[in-house]
Amino acid sequence: MSKTRVLREALQSAVLTRLMGAHSALSAKLGEEAGFEAVWASGLEISAARALPDANILSMTECLAAAADIAGAVSVPVLADCDSGFGGVGNVAHMVRSYESRGLAGVCIEDKQFPKLNSFVEGNQDLAPIGDFAAKITAAKEARTDQDFVVVARTEAFIAGAGLAEALRRTSVYEAAGADALLVHSKRSTPEEVFAFRDAYQGKLPIIVVPTTYPEVTAAELSERGFGGVIYANHGLRASITAMRDVLARIGGDGSTYGVEGSIASLKDVFALQKVDELLIRQKRHDELTETYSALG
Ligand code: SPV
Ligand code: MG
Repeated sequence: MSKTRVLREALQSAVLTRLMGAHSALSAKLGEEAGFEAVWASGLEISAARALPDANILSMTECLAAAADIAGAVSVPVLADCDSGFGGVGNVAHMVRSYESRGLAGVCIEDKQFPKLNSFVEGNQDLAPIGDFAAKITAAKEARTDQDFVVVARTEAFIAGAGLAEALRRTSVYEAAGADALLVHSKRSTPEEVFAFRDAYQGKLPIIVVPTTYPEVTAAELSERGFGGVIYANHGLRASITAMRDVLARIGGDGSTYGVEGSIASLKDVFALQKVDELLIRQKRHDELTETYSALG
């Protein structure tokens, strides 16, 4: 089954789909290894990995290069965070064609103005006009060539402080515009907003949530309440910052690497993640073939 179909069916199924955030091929592989059904090519992670703000500083081409690296490294489907679509409907159409052709299973665009600012940063979180954003959703749907390619419409109504009625009004229009799934974001410290949305929503689309600020909610509870997906958007990145900072400080303090050896990944582990074994098999085959062909000549 294609990855686009796998993602579409997973989101539509009665079982919650868990997506792990990634910023690189390596971090995506670790998400897959940990058993997550899909990967989220996170705008925050991809920007942070380059020590840049999550504010449309990176171009579409740069985001696509990172997302394509991620998609190429894992066998699970990858949903790409595409911010507000990198511009107008022309940009959205180009974006969908580009992401689809590079192996992404779907894209998610959000109803914010360009340039966007990460949802948790204090600053301009103004919403895009509803009609303008819905037209981008239709443009995205019309641009895809694979009918299973997933287009997720994300509303930032709660992030902008616009409330439940506005979140419902917006998502019903996005559904009419052809969205395949909804992402409803909240920055509350409890899941009350997204639960209220889930209870009030009368449409048919799977609903995805990102419980960064309400981490106590469990996958089991989200599943029970009928959510379609959960994105753990930035935990791999944050874990790596803490781990690197601790280890690097210890090496500096100790004056040697001896003390950290037992707590960091072995080179054997690194080589396995790099698939060095495959390279060695290929090289062995090359040597055999070289010998065979040389004998022929
Ligand atoms: C991301 O991972 O870039 C997201 C989720 O869009 S959030 O950072 O919560 O906005
Ligand atoms: Mg993002």
